[in-house]
Amino acid sequence: MKPQRPTLVIHGGAGEWRLERREKGIAGVNRAAKLGFNILKGGGNALDAVESAVMSMEDNEVFNAGIGSSLTFTRSVEMEASIMDGKTLSAGAVGLIADVKNPVHLARIVMENTDHVFIVGRGAAKLAAAFNLKRQDPHTDLREKYWRELKEKIERSELSYLQKLSKLLRTNQNLLSLDTVGGIAVDKKGNVAAATSTGGLSLKIPGRIGDSPLIGCGNYADNEAGACSATGIGEIAIRLVLAKSACDQMRRGHTPQEAAANSIKEVNRRIKNTANQMGLIAIDPRGRIGAAHNSPHMCWAYMTPTTSSPKTFFKAETLKRPPSS
Ligand code: GLY
Repeated sequence: MKPQRPTLVIHGGAGEWRLERREKGIAGVNRAAKLGFNILKGGGNALDAVESAVMSMEDNEVFNAGIGSSLTFTRSVEMEASIMDGKTLSAGAVGLIADVKNPVHLARIVMENTDHVFIVGRGAAKLAAAFNLKRQDPHTDLREKYWRELKEKIERSELSYLQKLSKLLRTNQNLLSLDTVGGIAVDKKGNVAAATSTGGLSLKIPGRIGDSPLIGCGNYADNEAGACSATGIGEIAIRLVLAKSACDQMRRGHTPQEAAANSIKEVNRRIKNTANQMGLIAIDPRGRIGAAHNSPHMCWAYMTPTTSSPKTFFKAETLKRPPSS
């Protein structure tokens, strides 16, 4: 694909996309990509575009973010999100969010209206109230159903508690919700931005923070390199500081596709267990894009000035995971 500006790439999450959700997933990334790209086309900036695209996916029950967030072990919802401006390296992130409608918007408020980067729990809720952000109960029937199915599986395996993620995944992998959402963009001026939002891992222990709100792990943007958003098992992206590492590859001259694929290869090489499903999207300031994953699927889309509508997919470059050791 010829590099073009502006360009937007989004993902609706890596993992096992069940048939029952696929059509809605594609429709959802299609809608979100159009919304974000229209901002860019009208001369808007990359930051507004990624925020708008991610908010659209947070408002869509099919994705594991916002209203569609997966449930913790105790059936609560703990959402998290981050946003980063590649021009200034400003960033904002939130975690342990129970009922804010658009966590990524709250992350932007942290970035633009506080002296901090990452605010969680009660403090984040107070900030949301101070800015009159919309609230909603994010529990949905779909996530309740998934929670019950997974819980029953765990009980049948006589696991009395979630001891180790890998142990759980060995028997329940296709039930876990890995489908974080994210958006990366370059605007007409060459500024890049990234935003990522999630309900986190299904049945996570309350209080667990994943990669999505951790700058450099699930999300990163730097005009001197590019922008990346990760999806999958957050613990893996944290241990490999995945998004920043991929951006650093672009800084060293790799294309976004090489950076995304090399990063997923590194996941496969270094983290040899069954709990290593990851996906990554990447963009550079010229408007070149990349996408790769080692999960069965990754729902994603992109849009450029020469695509009359978003290009949508369930797979990108798929790097097969080695057998677990
Ligand atoms: N990538 C989302 C999470 O692990 O929380």
